[in-house]
Amino acid sequence: MDLELKPASNQKQNQPKTYNPHPNMNTIHSSRCQNRRRFLRGLSFGAALFTVPGLFADELVRTHPQTEGPFYPDKLPLDTDNDLLVINDTTTPALGEMTWLSGRVLDARGEPIRNALVEIWQCDHNGAYLHSGTSNRDKRDAHFQGFGRFLTGSSGEYLFRTIKPVPYPGRCPHIHFAIKMKGRKELVTQCYIEGHPGNEKDGIYRSIKDEKARKSITIPFVAMKNSRIGELAARFDIVMGLTPAA
Ligand SMILES: [Fe+2]
Repeated sequence: MDLELKPASNQKQNQPKTYNPHPNMNTIHSSRCQNRRRFLRGLSFGAALFTVPGLFADELVRTHPQTEGPFYPDKLPLDTDNDLLVINDTTTPALGEMTWLSGRVLDARGEPIRNALVEIWQCDHNGAYLHSGTSNRDKRDAHFQGFGRFLTGSSGEYLFRTIKPVPYPGRCPHIHFAIKMKGRKELVTQCYIEGHPGNEKDGIYRSIKDEKARKSITIPFVAMKNSRIGELAARFDIVMGLTPAA
């Protein structure tokens, strides 16, 4: 079963994958599907808040840029789709706290941006990146995709299934983001866990002095109601400092 909300262009570049990592555990699978439907309904509701063009134009804070860091994959995985927990059609999922990470890519006026390529990369639950220079390489979770892409449709929505980020030496938990449009990298940033005690000890995070700028890249990871398997949801809207026509 493929993740929903995936535009046709994503389906083309990525092979469909088996969604249920525990084929013999139908109860869990059924529960997972129900939770996912609930989650997607939540997405629609959230999206409705932004459907009046320009309504919040004056209030939108542009997403603060952050350093790309050294761990953008030096060799992209064969599977680059938006489900980072399952690689191709394998049945063993990655370890970690399952998180549905979603949001919209918006322009400075609050209009959704379509055809924005959202890329994320993050370390696995052991703190290892999909990169030859990563620490903890011997402990790398071979089942974690480590990188994913999503091409937005007309709603500007994106969706990933991944893990809640974990700290690694020198860094608080974060997920790296790059937004590309027409092949050009328009924004590189990182998002952080709201309320995580490591944030204030992290030099890159601490270097952001402006409170609004910090808030623009700090998001809550919340338990999904009625999830029997402890899924989390995190929403990160990305406001670009440009308009599609610019
Ligand atoms: Fe990092």
